[in-house]
Amino acid sequence: MKKIIIAITLIASIFALSSCGKDTIAKRATKKDLKIGTAFASDVYDPEGQERIKEFSNIIVAENIMKWANLRPNAKFWNWSDIDNALKFAEENNIDVKWHTLFWHQQNSNFLYNMKTKEDAEKMMDEHITTVMQRYKGRIKVYDVVNEMFEENGSFRENIWYKLMGEEYLAHALTVARAQDPDAKLYLNEFNNECVGHPKADAMYNFVKKLKEEGVPIDGVGMQLHLATDLPFEPDKIRANIRRYAELGIDISFSEIDVRIPASKFNDPAEIEMQKYIYTTLLDIALTEPNVKSYIVWGMYDRTSWVPATFPNYGNACIYDVNYNKKEVYEEIFNKLK
Ligand code: G3I
Repeated sequence: MKKIIIAITLIASIFALSSCGKDTIAKRATKKDLKIGTAFASDVYDPEGQERIKEFSNIIVAENIMKWANLRPNAKFWNWSDIDNALKFAEENNIDVKWHTLFWHQQNSNFLYNMKTKEDAEKMMDEHITTVMQRYKGRIKVYDVVNEMFEENGSFRENIWYKLMGEEYLAHALTVARAQDPDAKLYLNEFNNECVGHPKADAMYNFVKKLKEEGVPIDGVGMQLHLATDLPFEPDKIRANIRRYAELGIDISFSEIDVRIPASKFNDPAEIEMQKYIYTTLLDIALTEPNVKSYIVWGMYDRTSWVPATFPNYGNACIYDVNYNKKEVYEEIFNKLK
């Protein structure tokens, strides 16, 4: 009997050590019906990056390769290969892929600025949605249809689509997208839209409510959540906002989370604690508000994070450090998902 018990224990330990048997954040989140993951860049193509993605993610999002300038740098050429390779890796590992983003005011291709009329814009928009969504129908399950459509004061951002089509470009894009793939989840994605009472957050809520009332197809709102340890963090206002969306039947994605630390305080225990507190409080919210469907960190690790290039006096915003070492916050997320 003793020998049998030893043999069973041995087999169980070997299984636990192999990657297929390893308990991971990705597996724990899947059991809790939460999509968790990261934006990917080159890490999706290198073995170490792939291992980290597999242990952390059951959903991934392209940081850049699905934006116009990368996907369609000129009117005739579509660069599918990077996307196809990433999708192949994801599918082999049972990881969902979110499309980011069909329309945005940044990283557009130059030829888009040749459009002159509403008809030009509609035609271009329809062609883009149709080409992408027909190609990936049933494989890409979530889309950021439009990214960053509001200004901080709550007015519409005057991007190239707004200038030619007016506010209706948003309903148009959503409607055409739904027709292409009725099963895909359609999101509008934004930053600084998480706290009830903020002009942009309220404008977005009112706009989404209007879309719902008019029967425009929309499934969710992305809250990017690019946060900092030295700026206000107001979880009660975030919860209140999420709940008013729940009443509309709207899902929420925590779509681009990162928590940057001032460079002068990288080793300050209080800042590190604050970063942990923000990441884990957001996870608490995601686990307790049923309409929060995903918790996505913007970048796997600090080496490729967009933060230092944009905020020169900040950094260390991700879950893994510059060498792919797990920070303490990783363990906290792992434990919270138990
Ligand atoms: O690929 C070119 C490379 O060929 C060139 O040599 C190099 C020179 O600057 O630029 C490279 O492109 C850069 C690209 O990232 C890939 O690294 C662009 O200049 C740079 O602007 C781009 O920044 C991205 C930014 O969006 C603008 O598209 C960031 O990586 C990406 O993290 C950031 O992501 C956005 C989300 O899409 C929307 N929400 C905010 C978030 C952060 O800004």
